[in-house]
Amino acid sequence: MNICVIGTGYVGLVTGVIFADLGNDVTCVDKIKEKIDSLNKGIMPIYEPGLEEMVKRNVVDNRLFFSTDLHGAVEKAEIIFICVGTPPKDNGETDLSYVEGAAKGIAKSINGYKIVVNKSTVPVGTGDFVRKVIEKNKIHNTDFDVVSNPEFLREGSAIADALSPDRIIIGAPTKQVAVKLLELYATIGRPMLITDVYSAEIIKYASNAFLAMKISFINAIADICELAGANVTDVAKGVGYDSRIGQAFLNAGLGFGGSCFPKDIQSLVHTAEKFGYNFKLLKSILDINKERVPHFVEIIKDKIGELKGKIIGVLGLSFKPDTDDMRDAKSVEIINILLNEGAVIKAYDPVAMENAKKILPAVKYCANAYEVSEGADAIVVITEWREFKLLNMERIKNLMRKPAIFDGRNIYDAERTRKMGFEYYSIGRP
Ligand code: UDX
Repeated sequence: MNICVIGTGYVGLVTGVIFADLGNDVTCVDKIKEKIDSLNKGIMPIYEPGLEEMVKRNVVDNRLFFSTDLHGAVEKAEIIFICVGTPPKDNGETDLSYVEGAAKGIAKSINGYKIVVNKSTVPVGTGDFVRKVIEKNKIHNTDFDVVSNPEFLREGSAIADALSPDRIIIGAPTKQVAVKLLELYATIGRPMLITDVYSAEIIKYASNAFLAMKISFINAIADICELAGANVTDVAKGVGYDSRIGQAFLNAGLGFGGSCFPKDIQSLVHTAEKFGYNFKLLKSILDINKERVPHFVEIIKDKIGELKGKIIGVLGLSFKPDTDDMRDAKSVEIINILLNEGAVIKAYDPVAMENAKKILPAVKYCANAYEVSEGADAIVVITEWREFKLLNMERIKNLMRKPAIFDGRNIYDAERTRKMGFEYYSIGRP
């Protein structure tokens, strides 16, 4: 099949390369020329394990192309995927201007029947909006259909998630249209649900909201554990053994960040309000999440006292491991508070430092965790990169001025770490 993918962000790039790898001819289009030029040189705009190799392989095999020519790509495509950004506005509403721009671009180039697929995370009703924009602006009198096919990939495991998703959701206006998408996904061999467009659009938000709810729930339980002297890791494990609940997304810590959960929950609150429903549960999820960083910083201040002049070493800057994405990363919030209180911040992250330098210029960036530890009054763990779990802790201790660890992601064993001579504080554990 010939496919056009509009937008070369996380979703677009991964969608494009996966469909190419499955044997389709794919053109990924972006209006940012520098991005397309870089992609054509084999330079990826994001860090994502396995992406670069897969892109190179499919480019060499002439199945994957990068271009700024939307017109040409739409003309030859049977299916067009809209994978553009859907950032939040100040009031939490989703900004659909990029989606609208893509729809207008399609309208100006559509030269025969095509299926237009919304893969970006968009509020319910956006399928109708896209249909209307194309209908109004199309220059040829041709038919087309609009489908919702939300993407569930996670950063850091995007390729694996896209190749082997838990489910494929196809929200289509008719069975015939759905079948065309089924064909495209057939080789993946994963469960598929065919539904209407509205339901598919809501499934994406409901999924993200549910996962965010699990995180806020366990973080609230972590607060109770701290007050009661219980251990949230054991509580989560015990709760998660119930197969109706499951172990996933019950890691207490600094709360959820990234480019999806915070904005998607706000968007769903806004959509609910538009329909006249006050989604109090979602608001509480956001409130609990907002309290995580101030609570953590309070623990740090309580234990090490006056921050002015103290050297704090930060391990991990990206919003989660295996990505260089700094969007809504807890590190930004925490480091800014510590800097404001007069602390000196040294930090290390395996891949996010280049991005972090643009947002946090006052930080002293280090080559590794050991350099971070040199002369530090405390180490603060913000992102649970695997390599931090494997550090030589004896060496870390000897390098520090005062061996104190504030573990925002509960990556170390409390008893063992204390036995080694560290003052150790974590989340929801005695
Ligand atoms: C999420 C969804 O998982 C994915 O399906 C959707 O397509 C996009 O949004 P992503 O933002 O890449 O993916 O990261 P995810 O692994 O879901 O983590 C989101 C945030 O929750 C991170 O800040 C992470 O640190 C936090 N988190 C996750 C926890 O605090 N505890 C957990 O148990 C799990």
